[in-house]
Amino acid sequence: MASEQIIEEKKQGQALVTEQIKGNSKKLFIESYGCQMNMNDSEIVAAVLAKEGYNTTNILEEADLVLVNTCSIREKAELTIRKRLQKYNRVKMDSNRKMKIGVLGCMAERLKTKFLEEEKMVDLVVGPDAYRDLPNLLKEVEDGNDAINVILSKDETYGDLSPVRLNSNGVSAFVTITRGCDNMCTFCVVPFTRGRERSRDPKSILEEAQDLWNKGYKEITLLGQNADSYLWYGGGLKKDFKKASEIAQATSVNFAQLMEIVAIALPKMRIRFATSNPHDMHIDVLHMIAKYKNICNYIHLPVQSGSTRILQKMNRQHTREEYIKLIDNIRNIIPDCAISHDIITGFCSETEEDHQDTLSLLDYVKYSFGFMFTYSERPGTLAEKKMEDDVPLAIKKRRLTEIITKQMEHSLYRTQEQVGKTMEILIDGTSKKNENEWKGRNSQNTVAVFPKTGSEKIGDFVMVKITNCTSATLLGELVF
Ligand code: 5AD
Ligand code: SF4
Repeated sequence: MASEQIIEEKKQGQALVTEQIKGNSKKLFIESYGCQMNMNDSEIVAAVLAKEGYNTTNILEEADLVLVNTCSIREKAELTIRKRLQKYNRVKMDSNRKMKIGVLGCMAERLKTKFLEEEKMVDLVVGPDAYRDLPNLLKEVEDGNDAINVILSKDETYGDLSPVRLNSNGVSAFVTITRGCDNMCTFCVVPFTRGRERSRDPKSILEEAQDLWNKGYKEITLLGQNADSYLWYGGGLKKDFKKASEIAQATSVNFAQLMEIVAIALPKMRIRFATSNPHDMHIDVLHMIAKYKNICNYIHLPVQSGSTRILQKMNRQHTREEYIKLIDNIRNIIPDCAISHDIITGFCSETEEDHQDTLSLLDYVKYSFGFMFTYSERPGTLAEKKMEDDVPLAIKKRRLTEIITKQMEHSLYRTQEQVGKTMEILIDGTSKKNENEWKGRNSQNTVAVFPKTGSEKIGDFVMVKITNCTSATLLGELVF
């Protein structure tokens, strides 16, 4: 899973395009919160609705249908979405239009009919596996009925649907490879909102990637709640793999093999992936990253805590030592690999000693960047049922500040390491601060900005010499 920031950044970026289908007259306003998976799901929803005559709009007031793709990961995310629903309803009343409002994604799945009963602010509620049912649900709404489908699926991967790219820079795109999660981390609501893990047919993944290349895209991110756990054996839940026929087992495709298939088929396409769960990350994946130049040297490897005791309470399936071993393997096999993390502070029963373990792990790894959160108790999770949320908010926040401060030092250390080097950057837009400068990313996923010279354009791979940096950005100049 990944961050809200990425979506925000895309909204602010320049030269963003949204595909429009000729002849479609109805207007869909769709907003996404949460992870990259939600972004991509909204593109799938736009594809389903394009067939029903909808084009997307960025103007809320002119929409016939307003959909919000929601996130339940922390309480704050849900509160933000409730505020947005109030805003949509105000616009609906003010404009006096027959605008329909719907909730998609994790909150729809979590709250189900409660949305229709309690909120009375929405016309339809659709869970993450039910987007194909949207045309029927919209008919129900037209007929004046409540419309809800929150059934989770064993095999839905939307593999045959071609996403309508929303707010795209035309350079990078997401390609979903797995859905759901079987890991049952005790703090996490995702297994309940997105269901059991299943993988998408590699043929359809390759077709989508090829289609993106043909349209001029230069970078894809293979997405899954747990991408490294990818396993195709003909369809169905990952947990049922052992029951599959011998032929299906023998011809199965794992994540390392999938990466190799894509890397060979599209040798000039940059390939990224997210998210990696440490206990599912196999050493073969590291060898694939090292072997293929077009697989980026960047791994998002959430750790959540540096304390083995807390990791066990979180049901993370690995110890601090095993995580460190994995980090050592990454450093040995891919020496210039950037690594980022997710960390939660103040999980149930976390002591100062546990917190110090997290800080010392940060010192050991010196991550390039990270996403850091205070623990937010989520209804229905094992932690909510069986453990006490006993770390006071003030302490959670103080620990978070200490972790953020340390991470900023390490981010600066990592960007400073790049100064003086010349590296390949994929241009993905104009710098937000200066229209005379380009912005792009290196293989390690760090942003670089540099002056335009007039002969290069968005989507070009260029060589840039890094001359300076901040903790988040490399500053440089083009070399020819
Ligand atoms: N509270 C705080 N952070 C959480 N995350 C997941 N569940 C919670 C929670 N209940 C964080 C984890 C995960 C990231 C996507 O969100 O760090 O990796
Ligand atoms: Fe949630 Fe853990 Fe699955 Fe990530 S691996 S989605 S944190 S249950």
